[in-house]
Parts: sequence; C-alpha cells; structure tokens
Amino acid sequence: MPSQPITRRRFLKIAGLSVASTTLAGAGLTVVATQTPTIDHPTITLAGATPMSKRILVAYATRAGSTAEIAAAIAESLATRGYAVDVQPVNAQPYLAGYTAAIIGSAVRIGNWLPEAIDFVKTNQVTLSGLPVALFTVHLRNTGDDEASRTARAAYLNAVQPLVPHAETVHFSGKMDFSRLSWLDRMIAKMAGAVESDERDWNKIRGWLPAGL
Ligand SMILES: Cc1cc2nc3c(=O)[nH]c(=O)nc-3n(C[C@H](O)[C@H](O)[C@H](O)COP(=O)(O)O)c2cc1C
Repeated sequence: MPSQPITRRRFLKIAGLSVASTTLAGAGLTVVATQTPTIDHPTITLAGATPMSKRILVAYATRAGSTAEIAAAIAESLATRGYAVDVQPVNAQPYLAGYTAAIIGSAVRIGNWLPEAIDFVKTNQVTLSGLPVALFTVHLRNTGDDEASRTARAAYLNAVQPLVPHAETVHFSGKMDFSRLSWLDRMIAKMAGAVESDERDWNKIRGWLPAGL
C-alpha cells in the first residue's frame, strides 16, 4: 500500500482516536480496579418483647461487610433485651419516624467514616437532635489503650460527631478480608501494611448497651 501523506485533517483524526482509546482504556482499568465483590447489605426486623417495646433503628454503612455483621449482632442483643429493632443500610435512607432511638455505625476508610454514613447523619440531623443516638465505629488501626491511639480513633468521628454532639460513641475492632475488597482497596490496604485478620470482639459488641435507649 502506497504511503499516504499525513494531512493536517488526517493527523487530527488519528490523534483524536488515540486520545479516545487511551481514555477508554484508562476508564476500563479504573472500572476493574474499583470493582468490588458483591457484599450483602442485610435489612433485618426483630420484634420486641411486647407491642409497646421501644423501637430502635440500627443504620450502618459498610464496604466489605464486617460492619453489617456487627450491626446485626447489636440488633440481636437488643432484641434479647426486649427492644424492637430494625437494621437497615444507610443507603436505603431509612425513615426515622416512629423510632425511640437511633444507633448509627460506619466502617472507617482512610481516616474517616464512610461518606454515605456522614450524609445520613447530616440529612437527619434535626430529627436525630431529638432522639437518643449512639454511634459505633468499625476500624482496625489505633485500637490501643494509649493516648495517641485514643486521640487518633476519636478523630475518625470528626465529620460526624459535631452534628450529633449528644451521641454516645463506641469503637469496635473490625476485619480485613482481601477477598471482599476491590483491587484498588486491596492495594491501598497492603501498602499500608494490612494483613488479613478478624479482630471483632463479639463479647464487647453483644455486651454494648448504649445509655439512654
Ligand atoms: C482501603 C482501606 C482503608 C482503611 N482505612 C482505615 C483507617 O484509616 N483506619 C482504620 O483504623 N482502619 C482502616 N481500614 C480498616 C477497616 O476499617 C476495617 O477493615 C473494617 O472492618 C471495614 O469495615 P467493612 O468490612 O464494614 O467495610 C481500612 C480498610 C481498607 C480496606
């Protein structure tokens, strides 16, 4: 095939195509890198001891599922104490009307509560201000009893605690399961020195009874 002189128009066409294909390849890689394995976001309803039982909402945000499992355990332990409990992911935007208290929990990613959990508290701030509220935070770093650890883990709540200053707070150690992470999150976790482990203390979780419920 005789070689064609590259006209300005042809040059721009080739350049345009190669930019477009690079962008598409980049976008494709981004999709693969951030694709997360399917994680359960259970919704649970547990009846109270009597029809007059106090009704508590446990709303949670998770990426890899361990916070959802903690939310379910908290609900079961409240139900055995006679409360009526609903567990819902914050993404379902549960409606707070009719609840006598709210328990809201989030996993920590890169030093913060998950954005959808912060948004849930922001959206419902006025209603929450009139309810007993407890916040649980699930994480793996800064779990020690020393001052530096306590300060660092308290900072995970910086975006959310000022919105509900009356809330009781608790921290629970979480779980690292690489099979439940996207490629990108696995890379971030490994680069931060994470190893797979399940640090959840089920006695602490089931024994937690927030004051003022
Ligand atoms: C990408 C990534 C970032 C994380 N960042 C933090 C962090 O900044 N501080 C911390 O204590 N734990 C951090 N963790 C640990 C998680 O909080 C812990 O694995 C938690 O159990 C995850 O909850 P989930 O399974 O509900 O998503 C991180 C985990 C991952 C995968």
